[in-house]
Amino acid sequence: MTNQNYEAGLEQPGYASMLRVWNAFTRHFETSPTLIARSPGRINLIGEHTDYNKGFVLPAAIDKQVFVAIRKREDRQLRYLAVDLEDQYQGTLGNLVRSPKLWPDYLNGVVDQFLKKGLNLTGLDIAIGGDIPSGAGLSSSAAIECATAFALNKLFLFELDRLELVRLAQAAENQFVGVNCGIMDQFASMFGVADHAIMLDCKTLKYEYVPLNLRQNAILLLDTGVKHSLASGEYNLRRQQCEEGVKALQQVYPQVESLRDVNRAMIEYNLKGMVSELIYNRCKYVVEENLRLQVGCEALRRNDLSFFGKRMFASHQGLSKLYEVSCPELDYLVELARNEPSVLGARMMGGGFGGCTINIVKKTALEEVIHNISKAYKDKFGQVPAAHVCSISEGTSLVKPPLAKQEAEPKKDGVKKK
Ligand code: GLA
Repeated sequence: MTNQNYEAGLEQPGYASMLRVWNAFTRHFETSPTLIARSPGRINLIGEHTDYNKGFVLPAAIDKQVFVAIRKREDRQLRYLAVDLEDQYQGTLGNLVRSPKLWPDYLNGVVDQFLKKGLNLTGLDIAIGGDIPSGAGLSSSAAIECATAFALNKLFLFELDRLELVRLAQAAENQFVGVNCGIMDQFASMFGVADHAIMLDCKTLKYEYVPLNLRQNAILLLDTGVKHSLASGEYNLRRQQCEEGVKALQQVYPQVESLRDVNRAMIEYNLKGMVSELIYNRCKYVVEENLRLQVGCEALRRNDLSFFGKRMFASHQGLSKLYEVSCPELDYLVELARNEPSVLGARMMGGGFGGCTINIVKKTALEEVIHNISKAYKDKFGQVPAAHVCSISEGTSLVKPPLAKQEAEPKKDGVKKK
């Protein structure tokens, strides 16, 4: 299955955000954008901190997205407008530097990668905006990178394929923004398909769409509201700790390249005692998470959401106790969810140290569950967690705005749309 040629329809969720970005572009730059691309945020059902260990992940694109409206300039200036932040940035193609504002880095990082590939760009006018809550662990930054990469690829007719764009967006995050993330977020944003999760093998990059038949259940995200400032440092530290485990195992098994090549027996009989308890715990978590994902996927295929939910709780336990990327707020949200009979499964999601939990909840009990958990969370932490019920949507695409339809295709310089 592929959504390579998909173009979002006008009934697309987020249409109001798209129009806001389109209109803001037109007002600010006093001309219409040539095209507008959208890219969604993502959830991850299970398989956390496994992508950079060359394991499996099970993300899906959601109905919250970023829009990037864009037009070529005749000079080498870069002029960006962040519609929701009501902020602007100006730079030049010849001098791409990190900005204290941070948000322009996601655009400049992508521009930088196109240039590094030897693909020539002109100056650009860009407006971005959308409805992905930032800092909630829904990968709004990956969505900006993917939408920008997709828009530039179309605007300049470069013909890079989706996987090349994913790698380019990830490289922008790694090299320009400076976060050493894995490939999951950008892959999910770019390759999402409605009502399907993506089982991605991060070693081979082979992937399979797994139908998500939620039936009478819904996906509920509960946002702790916590943004941990140490998160990216801790993230890179986890990577190093996993590499340390791999190095130790290579003394016994030289063929091991990553934790993906490691099984439970190797952890228990070889790694234990060779490395500190902390390194052992980190590696044990990753190996077990890969196994949980695989049995979890089988459960999804036979529509056994209750079995899948139990693997989610187990995943959280591992993330909290062995991998230690949770925080008291996330742990409490999961504990509260565990006490709700209508919650099939819950766990922290994404990098950790804050952001959201993902919960599978019976639709009929949604209101009650949100009410109960919110009340208890507020009593303990003084604030109500934001609740988002999300559906699974399509990956990155172009959008055709209604009133400026003829403007939505590259036509300057007499270039015809393919
Ligand atoms: C962040 C990273 C991803 C992944 C997750 C943890 O979202 O960007 O690459 O490593 O954390 O699963």
